[in-house]
Amino acid sequence: MIAPFAPDDQDRKNGGGRSHSFSVRLPRAVVKYRPTMAHPAAPDITRRKADHLNIAASGAGSFARSNLLEGVQLVHMALPELSLDDVSLSTTLLGRKLAAPLMIAGITGGTKEGQTINRTLAAIAEKLGLAFGLGSLRPMLDRPALAATFQVRKAAPSVFLFGNLGLAQLTQMKTRDVASALECVGADALCVHLNAGQELAQPGGDRDFRGGLATIRRLCADLGRPIMVKETGCGISPAVARTLADAGVPAIDVSGAGGTSWIGIEALRARGEQAARGRELREWGIPTAACVGWLAAAGVRAEIVASGGVRTGLDAARALALGARVVAMAQPVLAALREDGAKGATAYLAGIIDGLRLVCLLVGQKNVADLARAPRVITGELASWLAQRPV
Ligand code: FNR
Repeated sequence: MIAPFAPDDQDRKNGGGRSHSFSVRLPRAVVKYRPTMAHPAAPDITRRKADHLNIAASGAGSFARSNLLEGVQLVHMALPELSLDDVSLSTTLLGRKLAAPLMIAGITGGTKEGQTINRTLAAIAEKLGLAFGLGSLRPMLDRPALAATFQVRKAAPSVFLFGNLGLAQLTQMKTRDVASALECVGADALCVHLNAGQELAQPGGDRDFRGGLATIRRLCADLGRPIMVKETGCGISPAVARTLADAGVPAIDVSGAGGTSWIGIEALRARGEQAARGRELREWGIPTAACVGWLAAAGVRAEIVASGGVRTGLDAARALALGARVVAMAQPVLAALREDGAKGATAYLAGIIDGLRLVCLLVGQKNVADLARAPRVITGELASWLAQRPV
């Protein structure tokens, strides 16, 4: 568990953030991860959220298979004629400027630890100029008092902030209630998560996925805020992406296979036959690199975000070269935060940015957006996936 969010004076006492060129408030103390399940007597939602954080942070819920980004071999440029300082990583996502093409993907909320995680990571995203995603707002719909666990605007007044809700939940909600939930947390945009795999593997999860597309159409037409649709580790195919773009969705996070497996996480929480089904399907999904390559080749009219196993600056560069506009990460940021507090998460993200800058120079590209034009060779299993793109 991470200790409650530290005030500034505490930050000075423990030296937090002062060794960086930007100041980030540090949690007072961070106890290293212990791979335990939450106490069985804890309320259901608290228990589920705690289990998710514990299992995900430990890596026990990660895919064994690769996201295939290693199949993108960028071609070295021995005569770059560039200074590292000239490399520009700035970009836009849904019209908002980012200092680097990175987003901290939606993770959590609804619990005390979730509140600390949201405020700490949002503050880091603000300082680094990245986009930030809240975890699913569902807990605060059931219990309005939990809204505080998603409210990060004091820590991150100008971060590009995504509120997050599942499609099944949104289908049950009036558009004006969705708008109120976003208003309540000060979100700029809505992230709609698709998670049929997770729900089927989750004890007591949803079984009825009808009406989703009509909901997405309605929200695109009436919400008055930009919408990004994301998967949660199983990936988005070209047919689904085209359908979403035709419905008016301007951004899609593919959240492909190869990073966090939600079927895998739920399999670890389930019992009996349900756990067996989860174990059988824990590697289910389209690898992240295949999704991005497919969507770019299909000319899908939406901004593409790549998440699912992006772990290094080189991974990020490879995803951008395939056609992503921005990359997003969840598990490694959470793991770094649990390991070494705000300092650890900041250092981790700064390392991704640094690595991405180096790769831009090594392929001779001054602007990160030009990575999409950098010469590359597609190797191994990824070559097969890209050669057999379904229509
Ligand atoms: C997630 N993810 C997620 N996604 C979402 O849309 N709403 C949510 O509430 C959550 N919650 C959540 C909790 C934890 C602990 C993790 C690790 C992840 C999914 C996440 O946003 C992302 O799409 C996938 O995890 C793939 O990225 P990584 O983890 O491989 O970098």
